[in-house]
Amino acid sequence: MVKIGLLGLGTVGSGVCEILSEKKSAIEEQTKKTVEISKILVNDLEKNRNPIVDRKVLTDNPSDILDDPDIDIVVELIGGIEPAHTYITRALENGKHVVTANKAVLSHDFLGLTNLAKKNNRGILFEASVAGGIPIIKPLKELIKFNKIKEIKGILNGTTNFILSKMIEEGLDFKEALVLARKVGFAEADPTDDIEGYDAARKISILSSIAFGYNVTFEDVDCRGITSISAFDIDFFKKLGLTIKLVGSAYSNDLDFDASVEPVLLNTNSIMANVNDAFNIVSIDGDVVGNLQFYGQGAGKNPTGNAVVTDIIDIINGEFNPIDIERRRKPSNTPKILSNYYLRIFLESQKESDFILKTINKYKLKYRLVKGEESLVLILQNISRQEINNLIENLEIKGRSCYARINSEDYCFIQELNLESFNELVV
Ligand code: HSE
Repeated sequence: MVKIGLLGLGTVGSGVCEILSEKKSAIEEQTKKTVEISKILVNDLEKNRNPIVDRKVLTDNPSDILDDPDIDIVVELIGGIEPAHTYITRALENGKHVVTANKAVLSHDFLGLTNLAKKNNRGILFEASVAGGIPIIKPLKELIKFNKIKEIKGILNGTTNFILSKMIEEGLDFKEALVLARKVGFAEADPTDDIEGYDAARKISILSSIAFGYNVTFEDVDCRGITSISAFDIDFFKKLGLTIKLVGSAYSNDLDFDASVEPVLLNTNSIMANVNDAFNIVSIDGDVVGNLQFYGQGAGKNPTGNAVVTDIIDIINGEFNPIDIERRRKPSNTPKILSNYYLRIFLESQKESDFILKTINKYKLKYRLVKGEESLVLILQNISRQEINNLIENLEIKGRSCYARINSEDYCFIQELNLESFNELVV
C-alpha cells in the first residue's frame, strides 16, 4: 500500500482523485501496489466537493500530512511560493517523496529543492509544472544524458495562446478576447501572471535548468507579455503573412546564456504559428537528436492530472533519479542577439512622427516604414532586445506602442513577399 497526502483540492487535485479512482486497476498493475489517498489538505472543510472524494480524508491542518509517518508521497497542488516551499521542504525532510505541479516554487528555488530531495534520497517530480499534459520533463531528462541542448523554446501558456487565437480568428481586441478567455474558464480572476508572461517565464526557467545544467530562476528570464497587442497590429501581421505568438525561449552555449518571453512573429505556415487555442508546444534542439517538437494540451483537469499521476507511478516504481542541476557552469555573458522587430506607435500628433524618426535615426538603425495619419509602423532591422527596450523607454511611448520580434527564419519571407507595401525604406 502506498499512501498519498494531497495538498490542495482544486481543479487538478480533483482530477488526480478521479484518475486514481477510475484507473485503479491499471495503476495497480503498473506498480504492483495499492495506491490510496489517505489525506487531503483543504482550506474549507465545509465546502461542497467532488463526490468522488471521501470527506473523512479532508483536513485543514498541514501537519496531518507532512508529519504523518505513514504517508509516502506528498502531492503539492496549492501553487505559489509560500507556504508551498515550506510544505515541500518539510515533506522531503520527513522522508517523503514529492510530486508537484507548482512552477512558481520550482522557478524560485529549483536548485534548493532538487538538492534537498537528493540529500534525503527522495524523489521530487514535477511533470505537471510545465505544459500540462505534454510529457516534456521526462523526455528532456532522457535527452540530456548525452545531447547538448543549444536552444529550447515554445508556446508555454494556454491562456495567452487562446487570447491571441481569438484576436486573429475572430478579430476581437485584447480586452474582448480576455473576457472570452475568462468565460470559458482559461483566464483566472486575476490574469496578470498569464498576460504579462510571468507564467511562461517560470516554465522556461524550469526547462532551462534541466536542459542546460545550471540553475535558471524566474529572475533570469527577460519577460514581456501580450497586453499591448491591438486589433490594428493583428491586421498588420496578417498583411505581412505573419502570426503572433507569445514565445518563451532560452539559448545557451559555453559562453552565453539568454532566456526571454516575448511576442514573436512567425510565418503563418510554420508549425508553431498553427498551435492554436489553449494548446502548447515545446521545441528542443539537441546536438545529436536534432529538432524535436512536443505538442498537446498545456492545462486542464485531465491533462495536468495525467501528468501528476504519471509522476506518482514513477515514484512508486523507483524512477526518480535526481537531476544534476550543477553539471555545468552558468555562463556569465548575455549574448547580444540581433533581430528584426515590428514596432507600432499610435501617434499623439502628426508632428510627433518627425521627433520619433529623428530619435530612431540616432540609433543608426535600418528600418522600413509605413506612415499613417495616426500611426507609425516600422520594421527595425538588426536590433537587440535590450536596445529596443531602451528605445521604447527613451521615446516615452510605452502605453501606445507594440513591438514584437520577427522570428529570424521568417524575416526573409516577409522581405520577399510583403515589403513593397512599406512606403519608405531607410538605410
Ligand atoms: N495558466 C496556465 C496556462 C495554466 O494558461 O497555461 C497551466 O500552467
